[in-house]
Amino acid sequence: MQRTTLRLIDMPSNYLLIDFLNKKLVDLKKKQIDEYKQKSEMIIDDLLEIPKAELYTNDFFISDKQVQKLEAAFSLLLEDMPVQHIIGKTYFYQDCFLTPPGIFIPRPETELLIDCIKNDFKDEPPKTVLDIGCGSGCIGISIANLYKSFKVTGIDISDKAIEVATKNAISLKVSNINIIKQDIFNMKPKKFDIIVSNPPYLDINEIPLLDSAVKNHDPLNALSDKEDGLKFYKYFINNLFDLLKIDGAMYFEIPKSQITNQIIDMISNNSNIESIIFKDLERNKRVIKVFFRK
Ligand SMILES: C[S@@+](CC[C@H](N)C(=O)[O-])C[C@H]1O[C@@H](n2cnc3c(N)ncnc32)[C@H](O)[C@@H]1O
Repeated sequence: MQRTTLRLIDMPSNYLLIDFLNKKLVDLKKKQIDEYKQKSEMIIDDLLEIPKAELYTNDFFISDKQVQKLEAAFSLLLEDMPVQHIIGKTYFYQDCFLTPPGIFIPRPETELLIDCIKNDFKDEPPKTVLDIGCGSGCIGISIANLYKSFKVTGIDISDKAIEVATKNAISLKVSNINIIKQDIFNMKPKKFDIIVSNPPYLDINEIPLLDSAVKNHDPLNALSDKEDGLKFYKYFINNLFDLLKIDGAMYFEIPKSQITNQIIDMISNNSNIESIIFKDLERNKRVIKVFFRK
């Protein structure tokens, strides 16, 4: 394949981008950083706007300033900071969300919550929606974006989450969502048509066993209930009458662990409610929909 030589604006030097990248790839491999090549390509695409397709086929010369920017980003990657925190954004469902350090990174499997709701509801009649533990706002904002007539409320206890979710709603021009700092365990009783949540569901004893990129960079409050992982599910199920309208439905993400069996048992032991389980692409139980038995 023919290579083209390109110079990036901003005082080009004699430094070739591909030489810089190859050096960094050796360091990242030594440090055993997961998916280091893909993450490196994402950083270069974000900082220099050079897509992967062009990176290996053209000769790009980079300026000292660009080398400095890349050095700063790659030093974070060498510390195993998640690339979504380094570039400060994550794609989720149909949008791109700001995800600076301190914010839980939206996971692709969480998109199933949106698909389940999309399967069950049309735009009319309008519904009220509560997103519990909104984080970056990815779930609530995606729903508000899909259903312009719905009124969505996103709550979180983290100041950083409230700041970032609000910025995401503004930058994505989604006005039918209200982001509020609120601890779910102290919320005044109010009923919604749809409740959705990806709660902190890890047992506190699982935290030391996590990959360092997760353990050191996703907020602890977002990962674990600091108990056995069941605290939020128990609260949702025990307080359903206070949270959910009689024809409403609650959708929550469930973990790939023993906890899911305990959640299923709690629901089966409650004669007032029914549930449906949805599996993700890897055939893991991933979402439970709970509603009142008619
Ligand atoms: C697993 S993260 C989910 C974030 C986002 N919804 C997502 O799916 O990417 C859980 C979120 O719950 C929030 N949270 C933890 N305890 C809470 C509480 N008591 N009340 C409300 N939100 C809480 C955390 O701050 C975190 O943002």
